[in-house]
Parts: sequence; C-alpha cells; structure tokens
Amino acid sequence: MCPFHEERTPSFSVDPREKLYYCFGCEAGGDVFRFVQEKEGLGFPEAVEALGERYGVEIERESEDPEVEERRRRRARLGELLERTARYYAQYLWESSEAGKAREYLQSRGLGEEVLRAFGVGYAPSAWDRVLTKSQEAGYDLRELTAAGLIQKGQKGGVYDSFRARIMFPVRDPRGRIQGFGARALRPDTKPKYKNSPEGELYRKSRTLYGIDQARGPVAKAGRVLVVEGYTDVLAAHQAGIAETVAVMGTAITPDQLQQLARYTEEVVLALDADRAGRAAMLRAQRVAGSRKLRLRVASMPAGEDPADMLTDGGADRFRDLVLDAVELPEFHVHVALGEADLSSPGGRDRALDEVVPVLAAMGESITRDELARVVADRLNADPGLVMRRLAASGDSPKRDAAPANPPPEDGQAPPRAPARPLSARELQERALLAMCVASPVEGREFLQRLTPEHLSAPAVERARHWLLGHLDEPLAGLPRDDDELVSLVTYVYTRADREPGGRDAMELNFLQLEKAAIEGKIEAVRRSGGDAPVELQRRRAELAERIAHWETATSRL
Ligand code: CTP
Ligand code: MN
Repeated sequence: MCPFHEERTPSFSVDPREKLYYCFGCEAGGDVFRFVQEKEGLGFPEAVEALGERYGVEIERESEDPEVEERRRRRARLGELLERTARYYAQYLWESSEAGKAREYLQSRGLGEEVLRAFGVGYAPSAWDRVLTKSQEAGYDLRELTAAGLIQKGQKGGVYDSFRARIMFPVRDPRGRIQGFGARALRPDTKPKYKNSPEGELYRKSRTLYGIDQARGPVAKAGRVLVVEGYTDVLAAHQAGIAETVAVMGTAITPDQLQQLARYTEEVVLALDADRAGRAAMLRAQRVAGSRKLRLRVASMPAGEDPADMLTDGGADRFRDLVLDAVELPEFHVHVALGEADLSSPGGRDRALDEVVPVLAAMGESITRDELARVVADRLNADPGLVMRRLAASGDSPKRDAAPANPPPEDGQAPPRAPARPLSARELQERALLAMCVASPVEGREFLQRLTPEHLSAPAVERARHWLLGHLDEPLAGLPRDDDELVSLVTYVYTRADREPGGRDAMELNFLQLEKAAIEGKIEAVRRSGGDAPVELQRRRAELAERIAHWETATSRL
C-alpha cells in the first residue's frame, strides 16, 4: 500500500536492491531520503539528519569551520537545557501539591491528562529560583540560562526564574526540538496572560507553528492543515481527533508560517479571528499563497467563540461542520466586505466596490469569480457590466509576488502527491520508451536524441528526456531536488527499466507510436482552429500507421 495516498489496489513498489520506491497510483517516487522528505514533510538536510538520528549514523558535515562547530555545540547544550526544564515543569504539574490548582483549571477547561502529557504541558513553581538553582547544579551557567530565556535580571541586579506560577506549554520545531515556552498565568488578574520566551536565536514568534511536530504526519495524511489561534485550541483539536492542527500564537498568520505549511500540504484552513486586522493578514497570506499553489480557506468562527471552548463544550460536531463549510478566502473576504458596507449611500457602495475589486482580480478568471462578481453587483445594486469593467481596468489577472522566495516550477504544476489520474496510452508509451532507453543505453542514446518535445506529452517528460541523455549511466545520481516531477519521472522510468521488453524493435515501435501521436496532435490542432488538416500530415499519419502495423507483427513474433 502506498503511504502517500489512500487506495484500494496495491500499487506501491519498492526496489530493495536499488533502494528506491515508486507508487504507480500517485507517482510518488525516489530514494530513501526523498521518502522521508515526503512522508514527514522535511527538507533534504533535515531528512538526512532525521535518518542519521534514527539509525545512529553520525552525519559528517562539509563545513569543519570551528566557529560553526562551536555554535552547534552551544545550541545543542541550550536544547538539552530546555528539554530538561520542560521535563521538570511537566513533573511538577503532575506531582506537586502546588500545581493542584493548575490541574483543576486544565480539567475544568476540558483538557484531559492524555493530551496534556502528549504535548508536555507543565507548571512552573511560584518560587523565584527553582530552575535557576537546579540548572546551575547540573552545570549550566548564567549565560546559558539567559540565552535559553529561562532567567532574567531583577532591578537590583540579581537574577530569577522567568516563568513562575504559570502553566507551561513547550513550543517545538517540526522535529520536536524545544524552541521556547508559552506560559499562561493561572490567575485571571495576572498580567500578561501569556508570557512567551524572549525573541532570540531559538524562539521567533513569527515563525512558530505550535503543534507542528505532532501535526506533521496527520497533515500529510489529511491533505490539509487547520490553523487556529492558540495553545488550548491545538490541544482541544487533538483531543477531538483533529490532529492536523497547528496554532499561530494569537498573531496574524505570517508569510513565513505559510511558507512552512506549504512544505506539508496544499490546503490550509484558517480557523482564526476574522476581525479587520485578521482579514488584512489573510489577504496578505493569499498573495503569498497565490504564488505557491496553496489553497486557503476560512472557517469563520462565530464571534466570541474559540475552537477550544467549542470543542470541549460538546460542540465538536459543530466545529467539524464549520471546517467542512470553510469557504475560499477571496469569497470569504468579499462576503465580509459586503456585510460591512454602508449600502444606503452611493459613496458607501463605491467604497465597497473599491475593496472587493482587487480581491476578485486576484482570483484570476474563473466561473467562481464571475458568480461572485454577479453577487457583488446585485448587493451593491450596480450594473454587472460596471463590476466587470472595473475588474478589467484593475489589470484583471493577479499580479504575482515580484519574487517569491521559492518560485514554483516553470510550468507551474504542483508536485505529484494526490492520487494521479490514470496515465493515457501516449504517456505509457513515452515512459516505456524512456525505460527501454535506460535498459539499453547504446540504442537508448540514439532514441533519446531522436525524440523531440513534440513527441512528448508534457514539459516534465521533455526534462526527463534531457536529463537521461546526460545521465544515462547513472540516471538517479544528482537529480535536482527542486523538480519533483523530474525526480518522480526518472525514478519511475528507472524502476520500470528492467521490466520493459527492450531491444531495438520494441523501441522503434514505441518511437513510431509517439511520432504518430505527435502528428495526430497537429492534425487535431488544425481541426480545432476550423481548418482541414493538410494532406501532407494525413499522408504521414497513414504511412506511420502502416509501419506500426508492420512492426507490431514483427515484434509479436519475437
Ligand atoms: N497570546 C500571546 N500573548 C498574549 C495573549 C495571547 O502570545 N498576551 C497567544 C497565545 O499563543 C495564545 C493565543 O495567543 O494561545 C490565543 O490567545 P487567547 O485566545 O487569549 O488565549 P487561549 O490560548 O485561547 O487561552 P485561554 O483559552 O486559556 O484563554
Ligand atoms: Mn482563545
């Protein structure tokens, strides 16, 4: 069974000799590093490290720079310090009598022991120096404690624990390493309500996705991520079985956070506060998303309610419905703008139009957009033609971000993750031919040179042809990591190579079939534009059909 998509018939193939995998259902394919990258949503260096860690292999790094080395050692020590402190807080929550009130509070919020333990939630004692003393006893100095954000200076120059009498939420990176803490006051009159680790080399609020370490797997499986405001929302969602949930720590979602999420999924459902500031942030998010093929939807929370309370007060089904009913971000935005507009005056209606036109324009031409434009015209009591003219005047199609950090592949296709459509006969033929080229490199080189983009069904296949021509001896070595389609195709072809019949006759037959497909493509194009296919093309197709028939009888005798 393929671990990347749900399926009824097995299609996942692993080549134990070459250590490759390929799924014929969803076209995921590659080597062990890529497998870990895809399955766990990691980047290449992270995947290498994760595998190294899992199998106890020391990763040798290129840079032996002592400065870099020193920094890594320091970071590792800070990491250990944060881990042991988190363990201490957790133990204190469950075992101390002082934390009794915290346990009661969490219980009253409907959060059970299981989920609290899974997220390592703890309690910081009210005494001023517990972490300070214990860490010093364990050999950590004041500099390290300060760098980890665990102590701070008092007015008289002394130092004391940063977190006291607070419920502690360890915040982790995707690999589960603690970056810092969110600390919630127990008493409602204590300010601030949340105290977070100081911004620094370890903790950056704008980058943090609380719960991502636990959500990664579920996100890959669910094919979407649910984004909520805060710690308790994440815990409540996990407890309710909605494990593909992360939080943005009460701030507007940042491009950085979206970029990270784009590595795990293509669909983001925002269950966030949709006040004016929140919506502005979502729109910025949409611009980032637009250039990344992210689909953003909004599950609008009823005013004054948050997911945590809804989920723990028996409203889990209501919450699930809200998520199911989530609307595309532009549509959401238009509806909110119309809802808030002053429709009684022409000025108010103009302002509303000003607000929605850029949103509609950003959607690109589509039926959804046209329908939405009609709704807008209707509500603003305007001529639909006016809305369309304004749209046209605004430049119509979306302006892509000037320079997205990670531009999508040239032809703009998303990586092959979802179960793919069945391959057409032509695609099967071209892949089979490429596989034969790998299996018989001498003839292979010749056929790879004879093939032109016209023979091939998509730009990615042409990239694969070109790659194979240069790497026929070792097609897998050095495949570019940023071209998912190429990696997928080359892995497929390589995995197929020794299953193809091979031999010049079979290759020639396949080549002729692709040639015929190319000519039929041309004939079809002429027909679509209303003309009659030139006799020359018709003649060549007939000739090819004949030769194919000839080769077919020849090869069937083999
Ligand atoms: N937050 C923060 N600093 C604050 C207030 C909030 O960092 N002073 C962040 C936290 O990550 C918090 C999130 O914003 O989880 C949402 O805030 P809020 O809804 O006020 O807190 P909840 O986590 O929902 O806490 P509770 O439900 O216990 O009130
Ligand atoms: Mn809340």
